[in-house]
Amino acid sequence: MKKDIACIILAAGKSTRMKSDYPKVLHSLCGWPMLGYILDLVSELKIKKAVAVLGYKHAEVRKLIPSGIKVVIQKSLLGTADAVKEALPQFKNLKGHILVLYGDNPLLKKETIKGLIKYHTENNVAATLLTADVHKPAGYGRVLRDKYSSISGIVEEKDADDYQKEIKEINTGIMCFKKDALKSALGRVRPNNRKKEYYLTDVIAILYKQGLLIDSVKIEDINEALGINSREELAKANSVMQERINAKLMQQGVTIIDPGSSFISFGAKIGKDCVIYPFTVIERNVTIGKRCQVGPFIHLREGTQVGNDAIIGNFVELVRSRVGAKTLVKHFSYLGDSRIGNSVNIGAGTITANFNGTKKTETIIKDKALIGSDTVLVAPVTVGRKSITGAGAVVTKKVPDCVTVVGVPARILKRGKNG
Ligand code: UD1
Ligand code: CA
Repeated sequence: MKKDIACIILAAGKSTRMKSDYPKVLHSLCGWPMLGYILDLVSELKIKKAVAVLGYKHAEVRKLIPSGIKVVIQKSLLGTADAVKEALPQFKNLKGHILVLYGDNPLLKKETIKGLIKYHTENNVAATLLTADVHKPAGYGRVLRDKYSSISGIVEEKDADDYQKEIKEINTGIMCFKKDALKSALGRVRPNNRKKEYYLTDVIAILYKQGLLIDSVKIEDINEALGINSREELAKANSVMQERINAKLMQQGVTIIDPGSSFISFGAKIGKDCVIYPFTVIERNVTIGKRCQVGPFIHLREGTQVGNDAIIGNFVELVRSRVGAKTLVKHFSYLGDSRIGNSVNIGAGTITANFNGTKKTETIIKDKALIGSDTVLVAPVTVGRKSITGAGAVVTKKVPDCVTVVGVPARILKRGKNG
């Protein structure tokens, strides 16, 4: 990315319309906070200098900000123009341009922003807006154009008259500015509007009145423009993101039988030729090898790793667990904090009792073990290589290699060749 472009990410706002006690930008889509997507975008764009403006519950939001991005705190939430103003002193030495991103626009694509920056920097304009034509533009700022079709301002919906409300071209909130033009215009923004806020969008009319050029880049896929202000918008954005995640996995060679009921988090990794059956929830930080069968009705939670050719079948929950290659966990099991070897068979109804009320402990099952139906493994506990547990066994202490244990608590019934 060009050296003379910097970026400001606005993420100070409250969650008023979300009716939430959490900062809005920390609400998640597909297992990843909406601000996280914007931060990823900034890092993919390789923008040298980026500043995040935080405010409401900033200590919580800050945890998400990578060390390369400077944080500025907006003391009172006086509006988007005020937020940008707080960040500007960070760019004293910048001669070029500033890209403004909102923390509640997580569906933006890298190519779109690249296109916006390219257009803006090649056309010598004071500002370039990313706009979209939306059939029902409720909630968004409308783009005003003069009789020559030049952009002359933006009016927020709350302040728009009936005629302006009919305008279908909306402001996505994403803008590029020449830094000097932005700086001088910001000083003139006044809070003369319904919300009594300093609107960044007012900068556009100010620049227009100064006779400066303002242009726009339109996006085709209006989903990209989705700004999340309410729970309904969050749900909508979530389903758009889910479609994208599932489509990408399918392009990489994963079969998803019913994408509509496969809830796979952003960042989950699934290998080639896996088949994902309906009603699956696969969280972030889950890695699945190649050629696995997954589901139906499973929940693979954080920290789960599944080796190649494994089958994780009906009604199974795995968390913080490693399952080896060719291992079968086919029916009704809960495996938490476990390390399971290769070619293990986990019988129906196997449970790891991994929590004693105060702490969680580990269950280890070594290669080729055969865990009988309804076994309870009371952690911390190990089952040795090629060992067998009988149906209904409650395993409370270490099972050596190559033995069969049965009963409650489980005792050795017989020893195999090396047992
Ligand atoms: C904003 C735009 C609107 C646009 C829409 C696109 C303004 C005035 N309006 O409206 O034209 O169509 O986005 O989604 O900009 N924020 C701060 N400090 C503040 C206020 C807000 O950092 O004092 C941050 C918020 O955290 C948020 C972003 O700025 O990430 C946008 O604020 P929000 O209140 O969501 O603006 P909208 O009403 O959606
Ligand atoms: Ca918004």
